[in-house]
Amino acid sequence: MGRVEGRIALVTGGAAGIGRATARTLAREGASVVVADIDLDRAKVVAEEIGGEALHFDATDAESIEALVAAVVDRHGRIDVIHNNAALVGPDAWFTDGSVIDTSLEMWDRAFATNVRSIFLMCKFALPHMVRNGGGSIINMASVGGLRGSPALTAYGTTKAAVVGLTRFVAAQHGKDGVRCNAIAPGVIRTQQLLDAVPELPVRALEGVASPRVGEPEDIANMVLFLASDESAFVNGETYRVDGGAMATAPANRTLETQK
Ligand SMILES: NC(=O)c1ccc[n+]([C@@H]2O[C@H](COP(=O)([O-])OP(=O)(O)OC[C@H]3O[C@@H](n4cnc5c(N)ncnc54)[C@H](O)[C@@H]3O)[C@@H](O)[C@H]2O)c1
Repeated sequence: MGRVEGRIALVTGGAAGIGRATARTLAREGASVVVADIDLDRAKVVAEEIGGEALHFDATDAESIEALVAAVVDRHGRIDVIHNNAALVGPDAWFTDGSVIDTSLEMWDRAFATNVRSIFLMCKFALPHMVRNGGGSIINMASVGGLRGSPALTAYGTTKAAVVGLTRFVAAQHGKDGVRCNAIAPGVIRTQQLLDAVPELPVRALEGVASPRVGEPEDIANMVLFLASDESAFVNGETYRVDGGAMATAPANRTLETQK
């Protein structure tokens, strides 16, 4: 028996990176996985590989999210697990989301629509089904970028802080219905997109973590699996850092230590 045997799992942004690793992991552990993505062609490749199904959706479009939830419930009768993973990521976003002064209103609104409003809407549409079926597990994607400040990525980081807050509200309002809602805050994770955009990033990221290596998509997928499974039955409203100790360590101090 797999750790999520027979569950119906919806993974948004499942066509690439962390979402793809999650889709693979949940399928390996017995879930029926729906891979939802704006890039349907790539979602189909993942779905075919894991024996799941691919559905198109756009996280910035409320009707599209409502239709996605309806399609999953229509086909499977319920939704047990949702990994709200899709977000505004990639070179376009990274290089135009700067300081508070530099960040455009357009970028701010786009980041909130993609990263926060989408999760609010997904919960809004899916919760009634989960409640009706006695519960479920929602796993939202935050980031260590939402747990601290930095010189840039103001919009992105603020959306991820909002995801942490929204996660607690869902848990507080629907815990008694059997719904658990938790978030994951990854550090730098070595996705293909990140490697293509900033080839030297893994080397730089290694300096900032306590672990002897940088994070891989599977590291996040394993935490999603734990939060989706009954092993986390008493965990609710929490945000887990999966960052190789990046937030627990101060690189400057470590440098001084090694200079001794
Ligand atoms: N990679 C990291 O270092 C890192 C660190 C912290 C948090 N995260 C978070 O992890 C999640 C996944 O990131 P990733 O690095 O795997 O990214 P990725 O670019 O590899 O994958 C993102 C997926 O989301 C899809 N997507 C993007 N916009 C969409 C939209 N509007 N509607 C539907 N699908 C859309 C893309 O097509 C893609 O398949 C994001 O929430 C991101 O903020 C990533």
